[in-house]
Amino acid sequence: MCHLLAEVKKSSYLSVLLMRQCSVGSLWGALYPFVKVIDVSSADPHRAGWKPITFVRQVLAGCLFPQLLKENTLPLDVRLRARRLLEACDGGSVGSYTDSSGMLHVRQSIAEFITRRDGGVPSYAKDIFISAGFQRALMVVVKLLARGEKETQTGVLTPMPCPHTVPALLDEAGVTLVPHPLTETRGWAVDLDELHRALKTARGRCEPRAIYISNPGNPTGHVQDWKSIEEVIQFAAAERLVLLVDEVYQDSVYGHGREFISYKRVLFEMDKEYLETVQLVSFHSLSSAHMGECGLRAGYMELVNIDPEVMHFVETMLCTDISTPVTGQLALDLMVSPPRPGDLSFHTHTQIMEVEADVLYCQMLLEEKGVFLGAGCQYGETTGNHHLRLCILVLPDTLEEVLAALGSFHLHGHT
Ligand SMILES: Cc1ncc(COP(=O)(O)O)c(C=O)c1O
Repeated sequence: MCHLLAEVKKSSYLSVLLMRQCSVGSLWGALYPFVKVIDVSSADPHRAGWKPITFVRQVLAGCLFPQLLKENTLPLDVRLRARRLLEACDGGSVGSYTDSSGMLHVRQSIAEFITRRDGGVPSYAKDIFISAGFQRALMVVVKLLARGEKETQTGVLTPMPCPHTVPALLDEAGVTLVPHPLTETRGWAVDLDELHRALKTARGRCEPRAIYISNPGNPTGHVQDWKSIEEVIQFAAAERLVLLVDEVYQDSVYGHGREFISYKRVLFEMDKEYLETVQLVSFHSLSSAHMGECGLRAGYMELVNIDPEVMHFVETMLCTDISTPVTGQLALDLMVSPPRPGDLSFHTHTQIMEVEADVLYCQMLLEEKGVFLGAGCQYGETTGNHHLRLCILVLPDTLEEVLAALGSFHLHGHT
């Protein structure tokens, strides 16, 4: 195994893909003291057993097999949505190519979503480019930034630790990774001094032209606050760096008082000297959103303050893919525009996502161990903490049994 991992680490991008695709058993060919490998080295929710979101799959089913839209099997709002999406496809079919930058209908939905998310900061379909996932979008932009050799080669400031796929991608694109350590003692926050230090060390070795940021942070889970984002934007402006902001985990923020704030939102509250000049690319992806549909392959980037000539080259680069898989593009539309209150599917859709943590805990405990506890949120908790209710006026043996089941469930969780 060590040998295999060492080989994988040695080479780059292709090896990461290879590792994902290979059956580990067939590569090892040796005996090990376990019966199966549980691979949680990177996110692939459906592979790990996560169930697809019904609304998404129903709409896609209707689009793929329009006969379903003439029957009553699917809910009415699903059929209406599928019809609307099909109307946006050339020839009324998901089997057609789309523009290389993506379907206009979906890009408009994305722009509306961003405007809502950022409290009214305008977003336009012309600045949105759909691609076959985040990795593809990042590769397109980094390749556009890549030039020079040795001390003139493009450098990209990259946090350490960073997402495991990023170093290989930068290498493949022909740019130099300029590491800047995150501060573990401050919850892996971005440290301005480290940014300056990294830049100083890099100059002479390469020409830093961009900074890659992962917020919410992968793999750290750190969520930047307004001030921290503002500082990074000021730094990028002063050092004339393009900001590449990976915001794919924007709907996965946990923790009291934590919220996702987009870089674009902060930028649009800053002075004109920043607002009109800082070049920003923000990425989002189906894979990392709550629906976790990695296999559908779609994501998007929004370009801010990027010269129209450069935008043209982004489109040209995407032309080599001809078009992003259409089912993925349609799923993006559903990601940014889920069922609304009043829609038939609203209840089922939100049920999966918005169940309170303590209710979910109790449901799972009941299903796994046959122990029924009360959920604290039924008493209107507002602190953000969660509590469980347990009656101790039972026979000691029963209490022991309950506590043993609770302990084992709590430590080992869902089986
Ligand atoms: C940092 C990061 N963001 C996003 C993703 C999801 O990428 P994609 O949209 O290409 O599936 C990955 C997948 O490995 C990743 O490493």
